[in-house]
Amino acid sequence: MSASYLIISTSLNPSSRSRLLAKAVEAGLIEQTKEAKAAVEFVDLRDVELPLCDGGAAYGHPNVATMTAKVQAATCIIIAVPIYNYNVNAACKNLVELTGKAWEGKIVGFLCAAGGKASYMSVMGFANGLMLDFRCLILPRFVYADRNEFLPDNAYSAEIGDRIDLFVKEAITLNTGLYGK
Ligand SMILES: Cc1cc2nc3c(=O)[nH]c(=O)nc-3n(C[C@H](O)[C@H](O)[C@H](O)COP(=O)(O)O)c2cc1C
Repeated sequence: MSASYLIISTSLNPSSRSRLLAKAVEAGLIEQTKEAKAAVEFVDLRDVELPLCDGGAAYGHPNVATMTAKVQAATCIIIAVPIYNYNVNAACKNLVELTGKAWEGKIVGFLCAAGGKASYMSVMGFANGLMLDFRCLILPRFVYADRNEFLPDNAYSAEIGDRIDLFVKEAITLNTGLYGK
């Protein structure tokens, strides 16, 4: 198994800001891994209809099998997430409930869009769950951008741009270090 990347944009909002972060990371990963020809896949949950996890029949939905296979195939999964009520949004949590064990041992990184600065640590509970349930390795640096970091015309601040660059570098370092190029 060689290093590969799955970026999942979990916001269901058509004008999502976290999706902008996800697209920037996708571009950075493609650029920086092109020699190694690493697989970099992007999934937008807006395009994947998923049932709410009921712990039973929902697991039989065909899109659950599709997402489970994508998660299973990737060595590093980057989750772009809106912060809702000091946590990840329900669509993100639901995805993990539905795909469960496929997350075992994955390297996982976070790109967060939020309204304000005060929700900075909101992904930690979710990250703890991934570590405890599935022994995921969480990238220690994550991108957190509040509303003031986003500029007109789908742009974002230079600071967030720098942060994204660092995030991409660190994801590649850890992923290739564990799985090879
Ligand atoms: C239901 C809901 C709850 C929210 N809760 C928080 C919150 O706890 N902390 C925060 O900083 N922003 C909160 N926000 C603002 C969103 O994080 C912000 O709009 C962000 O851009 C959403 O990501 P997205 O644009 O990718 O959908 C909330 C927004 C909604 C709709």
